[in-house]
Amino acid sequence: MLSYQHGYHAGGFADLHKHAALCLLIAHLKQKTTPFCMIDCHAGRGLYDLTGEQARRTGEWQAGIAQLVKAEPANDVLRHYLDVVTAFNPRDSLTAYPGSPSIAARLMSEQDRLVLIEAHPAEHEALRRVLRHDPRTHIHKRNSFEALPGLVPPDERRGLVLIDPSYELKTEYQTVPRVLAKVLRRWPSGIFTIWYPLLPDNRHQPLLAGLQTLAKPLLVAELTGPARDQGLRGTGLAVINPPWQFPETFGKAGAELGRCLFGAKGKHVQRVTGQTP
Ligand SMILES: C[S@@+](CC[C@H](N)C(=O)[O-])C[C@H]1O[C@@H](n2cnc3c(N)ncnc32)[C@H](O)[C@@H]1O
Repeated sequence: MLSYQHGYHAGGFADLHKHAALCLLIAHLKQKTTPFCMIDCHAGRGLYDLTGEQARRTGEWQAGIAQLVKAEPANDVLRHYLDVVTAFNPRDSLTAYPGSPSIAARLMSEQDRLVLIEAHPAEHEALRRVLRHDPRTHIHKRNSFEALPGLVPPDERRGLVLIDPSYELKTEYQTVPRVLAKVLRRWPSGIFTIWYPLLPDNRHQPLLAGLQTLAKPLLVAELTGPARDQGLRGTGLAVINPPWQFPETFGKAGAELGRCLFGAKGKHVQRVTGQTP
């Protein structure tokens, strides 16, 4: 039984990095007029209450989204992302934080489709309450690693998969590349974005090694703050088949995000391997 609940971490620095990338990826997909599909494999509850018990207990959002709002970044990607977050809040206050399903639903067009997978019963029920009336969404209560191969390629043949596990099981660092190997055979042109934590023991290394063996264009972007002996020391994103110019544009956004959150100690590093389209 899964116990992770994202409410403790919503709006923290890892969400900012991941969700700014998500906004930019959707903007790239919208450059063409044909429909696309997004599959969110670890959807969470969709919308988080920043005044609630979970958010209050960690206060991660205060050092994350609240800090970024205060910093008033000039970067276009970050401004676009902040516009999305503020759309879920009353004027001049920050009481809610949209998860990846709500961000995607807000940015997608009427013709696009959003497939959401969430295995935790309570999180799934909350997600249904947020998005069940949206005719573009399909919400599944399943194990996404079992479900994903059967969901691709989507009819639209164009789109994005977000893989954002809680890594409660250490085996997930190996499961992700193993499932992706199967999925990429069925849908080689899909864009796949994988989140991973940077922890002091570098347990994400097998994940990155596994992704390298897939022999696809791969962007790896990591944001770190001041050095820490324990807990999350940084946040990582791997993007398979990154759109043209995405690495350059996201690199600038990530660097500014680092400055806004961590000052001179913020560091954003990226590397691209394989051939980019
Ligand atoms: C990090 S949170 C997701 C946050 C969300 N993607 C966002 O950005 O707002 C991970 C979620 O995945 C769910 N989850 C974990 N393992 C899963 C699996 N194998 N299949 C589907 N959902 C899973 C957890 O219950 C949790 O709600």
